[in-house]
Amino acid sequence: MSKILAITASPRGERSVSRALTTTFARLWSQEHPQDTILLRDIGHHPVTHVTEAWVVGSFAPPEAQTPESKAAIAVSDQLVDEFLSADRYIFGVPMYNLNIPSTFKAYIDQIVRAGKTFAVGPNGYEGLVKNKKALFITSSGGSFPSGSPMGAYNFQEPYLRAIFGFIGVTDVTFVVADSMNQGEDAAKVSREKAETALKELATKW
Ligand SMILES: Cc1cc2nc3c(=O)[nH]c(=O)nc-3n(C[C@H](O)[C@H](O)[C@H](O)COP(=O)(O)O)c2cc1C
Repeated sequence: MSKILAITASPRGERSVSRALTTTFARLWSQEHPQDTILLRDIGHHPVTHVTEAWVVGSFAPPEAQTPESKAAIAVSDQLVDEFLSADRYIFGVPMYNLNIPSTFKAYIDQIVRAGKTFAVGPNGYEGLVKNKKALFITSSGGSFPSGSPMGAYNFQEPYLRAIFGFIGVTDVTFVVADSMNQGEDAAKVSREKAETALKELATKW
């Protein structure tokens, strides 16, 4: 029995492609794996707080420097980290915003990338502490960014997600991309159907 954390980052509701694909995949997964539990965290509609000065004190300052504000700020992060670490697998539904991820998802990442909790600094440098997990990124974008093409160089979303989740140890990652959403109905339909087909396969093979 696995625990899956599904995070949706689009602020849109029914119009959101990444949200629809993520919830579709969660449903397919539950049908195939009824013993698994899926926890949904909707940061698109319920964003987590940004890092504040109190948060930095809470994360890095010694106990004698802590204040009620720093303790409260870091308690939010602690809860998100505990939730993150308690999951075996992650599903992230992430739109592309300005060639990267939405700031809501960045705020979430800033809360869970924590020294001593999700990564460590040792004699050999940085070490990711989040081991033996799998992540599925379901991304959506208006344009398309084929790797190796001139447009591919503008995709900072996938390389960033691979880098930051790899940094904390999540290296088994899969991307399903619904791109071309703003390139005409036909292109959007073809791309979305391709993503849906890939997700159907992953529901049994991931
Ligand atoms: C603020 C904003 C920024 C966007 N930036 C990009 C972009 O840089 N590249 C792109 O291809 N599409 C961009 N888009 C289009 C979205 O990625 C596209 O509509 C996608 O389907 C949004 O995800 P969602 O359907 O899950 O909400 C942007 C949309 C918005 C609202």
